[in-house]
Amino acid sequence: MKRTHNCGELRLENVSEDVTLMGWVNTRRDHGGLVFIDLRDRSGVVQIVFNPKIDTISHAKAHALRNEYVIEVEGVVQARPKGTINPTIPTGEIEVMVHRLEILNTSLPLPFSISEETTVSEDIRLRYRYLDLRRSALQRNLILRHNIYQEIRRFLSDAGFVEIETPFLIKSTPEGARDYIIPSRVNPGKFYALPQSPQLFKQILMVAGFDKYFQIVRCFRDEDLRADRQPEFTQIDLEMSFVDEEDIFCLMEDLMAHIFKKGIGVEIPRPFPRLTFQEAMDRFGTDKPETRFGLELIDITDLAQESGFQVFNKVAKSGGKVKGIRVEDSLSRSEIDNLTSFVSIYGAKGLAYFKVLEGNLESPIAKFFSQDLQTKLLKRMGAKSGDLLLFVADKSSIVAQSLSALRLYLGKKLNLIPNSGFSFTWITDPLLFEYNESERRLESMHHPFTHPRLEDIPYLETCPEKVHARAYDLVLNGVEIGGGSIRIHTTELQEEVFKILGLPKEEVKKRFGFLLEALSYGAPPHGGIAIGLDRLLRIILNCNSIREVIAFPKTQSATCLMTDAPFDVDSKQLKELHIKLDLE
Ligand code: AMO
Ligand code: AMP
Repeated sequence: MKRTHNCGELRLENVSEDVTLMGWVNTRRDHGGLVFIDLRDRSGVVQIVFNPKIDTISHAKAHALRNEYVIEVEGVVQARPKGTINPTIPTGEIEVMVHRLEILNTSLPLPFSISEETTVSEDIRLRYRYLDLRRSALQRNLILRHNIYQEIRRFLSDAGFVEIETPFLIKSTPEGARDYIIPSRVNPGKFYALPQSPQLFKQILMVAGFDKYFQIVRCFRDEDLRADRQPEFTQIDLEMSFVDEEDIFCLMEDLMAHIFKKGIGVEIPRPFPRLTFQEAMDRFGTDKPETRFGLELIDITDLAQESGFQVFNKVAKSGGKVKGIRVEDSLSRSEIDNLTSFVSIYGAKGLAYFKVLEGNLESPIAKFFSQDLQTKLLKRMGAKSGDLLLFVADKSSIVAQSLSALRLYLGKKLNLIPNSGFSFTWITDPLLFEYNESERRLESMHHPFTHPRLEDIPYLETCPEKVHARAYDLVLNGVEIGGGSIRIHTTELQEEVFKILGLPKEEVKKRFGFLLEALSYGAPPHGGIAIGLDRLLRIILNCNSIREVIAFPKTQSATCLMTDAPFDVDSKQLKELHIKLDLE
């Protein structure tokens, strides 16, 4: 059995050659006299023809062929007769006249057709993933993924990084999600955790002197799933010694430029713009702003204090915020009502609006704004005739959530977000801790190994909630594609941060004793970052979900529809693991 060519590579130059091809029956047209098959393999499709005048045996066998049968054919390449050339496929100028056919395997009738676009439900696609993966769209995605893996490895290796694998059966590394845990048979009652990231191992590799580490690595997080989250996903994970933020930004910008250039031939301008966390929250209401369009949030809390509109006035005077966006479009009353219900999902109690007409504000609440205040408001908002101004007054978190969602909603509705283009932004200087209201304690915003900003260290003890972190996120088109930080590299500072997080000394020793010990044996200053590779690829390939760039993804409820994982374990296996189920 030997193939001479792949289906998709035959061209006019091959005319008269005797070729052997193998592949799947993509489509079949049986004209009684002639049988035409589009034969498909990974490289593409080619038309093959069975003609009884050329070979009666193969022609007779060809009537039995059905979609997705696997066949081997031998035949001669010929130019297609005039009028039958198909300019939409690369092999459209030729066809192969078959003189030998062997059926290598048959196929049941398909649950859905193997075409570029499919309307069949995603559940069916995931159940028959091997058929879904035959579609050219998914083949293209996974092959680009492969190419990008090779480019990442080449780039980082050339830059002096060493690829080192870290274990999957580990002690928990906190990244803010729940752990997947694995029982240990040989250590009854004890469990491993699957890594939420290789965070502590890569830090320890710095202590070990490896200087520059990277890994394309699977991470496991038991969290509520969404379109851009999978229970197991892949990171480009890296760490460097003796660096500061600028070194990491510079390296990552070069790596991104390399990936885009080699992967899809796109030049990415550098340096990437930067926003502090606070600027991002002020201007976009989110720490992952979509920066490909405007509609920025504008603060009018000070002006609201002067107005007679009770809602604004009260919120502004009680420490809340009043912010708005300016839409260069006039919307109808019912459209504004829809927007009001939209923002209510995010907790906004209303959506005040003004239509701008020849320098005047038109709104049921315009009467509460003096002429002077209206002029100031117009100026602040940069408004011109025909614009619509929309405002939310509330505590600052609700204003941020509702207006950032409204901004995106309007951006899509009014077609303001370009369908293409790549807009990177670094988000810098977040706070080190955030307050968890339900648990009434401080939590790490990134993870507990993040270094506080140097000038803020004196405030760690007195007012930790004001301390900024040496952490950064990389945002692409409104999606957080990566995050990292400069790490704590001394035992004392690490212990102090654990203390602020309310972890008792004993607990720290039990969970992180190995890290503290490692830090005390000459740990170099170090820092790193991890990029969510599935998310990055989804954006590069302009797909709707990361499931489109993963060969065998899981559903929103973390199941694999093809293999039916997770599965029931029989009682013998459970007994060996000393586990008894207690299902309600
Ligand atoms: P972080 O938790 O920010 O950082 O993760 C890095 C990036 O991984 C992606 N990501 C995910 N992608 C798909 N599905 C998920 N469930 C998921 N969770 C995260 C995101 C995210 O930005 N150890 C640190 C990195 C460091 O400090 O160096 C870490 O894991 O794109
Ligand atoms: P009302 O006085 O409740 O009739 O509200 C007058 C207008 O103010 C309506 O358009 C409401 O949607 C809007 N509004 C009410 N509460 C708020 C709020 N918290 N923020 C913004 N607009 C509000």
